[in-house]
Amino acid sequence: MPSQGFLPTARKVFTVLGGLYVGAVVLLTIPYFQTHTLFLHAVKIPFFANYDMPERYGLAPNKTINLKVQTVDNETLGAWFVLSDSFYHSLPTIPSQPVDLIPTALKTHPTILFFHGNAATRALNARIQHYTAFSSRLSANVFAIDYRGYGDSTGAPTQPGVARDARAAWNWLIKNGAAADDILIVGHSLGTGVSALLAAELSDEDISPRGVALLSPFSSISKLLETYSILGVVPLMKPLAMIPWAAKLVLRRLIHTFETDTLVPRIKGPVLIAHAENDWDIPYSHSEALFDAFLDPFLPLNPELPANAASLSQEEWSTFIDQLANRKEVREKIVTSVELRNFGTVHECTESGRKVVFVQTLAGGHDYLGVQEGVQDAIGRTFGLFSR
Ligand SMILES: *[C@@H]1O[C@H](CO)[C@@H](O)[C@H](O)[C@H]1NC(C)=O
Ligand SMILES: *[C@@H]1O[C@H](CO)[C@@H](O)[C@H](O)[C@H]1NC(C)=O
Repeated sequence: MPSQGFLPTARKVFTVLGGLYVGAVVLLTIPYFQTHTLFLHAVKIPFFANYDMPERYGLAPNKTINLKVQTVDNETLGAWFVLSDSFYHSLPTIPSQPVDLIPTALKTHPTILFFHGNAATRALNARIQHYTAFSSRLSANVFAIDYRGYGDSTGAPTQPGVARDARAAWNWLIKNGAAADDILIVGHSLGTGVSALLAAELSDEDISPRGVALLSPFSSISKLLETYSILGVVPLMKPLAMIPWAAKLVLRRLIHTFETDTLVPRIKGPVLIAHAENDWDIPYSHSEALFDAFLDPFLPLNPELPANAASLSQEEWSTFIDQLANRKEVREKIVTSVELRNFGTVHECTESGRKVVFVQTLAGGHDYLGVQEGVQDAIGRTFGLFSR
């Protein structure tokens, strides 16, 4: 009697896995599933959070005020305003009406407008650690919103939607007395895409924030899809690269593109990019690409290799190679790279008075990069938060 052999069983298993994979890819082309996969807003961690009790998540009594922010299209966003520790500690007692202190806090201290990454809410422990570090080490107030569809906010996220949320948060700070150049925009992961959209919009209107810090950013969703690993384990698009039509299918149906790389030329003012080499979610090559994009205006034109490269003359080749070498030389001249032992490398360009900093760290991973003291200090120095 023929028994079920190993090979036929293995083939069956692979057929089923392959089928599931193709199924997942097809689902990604459907807006509903794509939106949920990218934003992961349905993952409301911590579960059953009470946003009225920030103390339950580790923040000092009445240091954090739970608020609502209205957007132009009538969504209501949940938000936390965290008082700077130096302000909070200057009070004689724990404030009984902390909400009344917001305008004074905004006038006397810089404020970090924080845009979190995908999944979970503003009460996620890793995010609380950021508010704690920003408000203590950097003496800044922190304003953290949950985008539409996240936490206790209404609606569902879309790219233009979260951009409006970011603008609503900005406007709220200004309305409550903050000066534009006292607001530092800080985004993490997906929040860097949101930050870039806000920064570009403000630049277009000649509004200058203190600066923009992009923590663990990506250059665009389409480039991310080529490198992103779900939980750092399952390479989503890698097998797709072998099935060109499938990759094209998903990329063509991409709704939320978050093309930070193409927004770069519109973003003015000082910029800091930070990325950990041990980030298993988004490779730091994304930050290298963004840093390069910010440097581009200060470099000689990048020579393009002509399509007929094979038939180039000796002379044309040497011109091309000279141009490449020249660009590299200029880049080395305008970027200073300082290696900080055991921490990482800080690359900085201050050409034409514009500061662009890239902090490449050895540790921090994807979620805890921003609470590395070395990263906090680079933010403090770059945006003049220590010189008050
Ligand atoms: C905004 O929402 C409120 C209720 O929260 C509703 O009364 C009002 O009609 C809405 N306005 C618009 C323009 O949708
Ligand atoms: C904290 O603030 C709330 C109002 O937001 C107030 O009722 C409470 O008494 C305050 N706590 C202290 C210790 O003052």
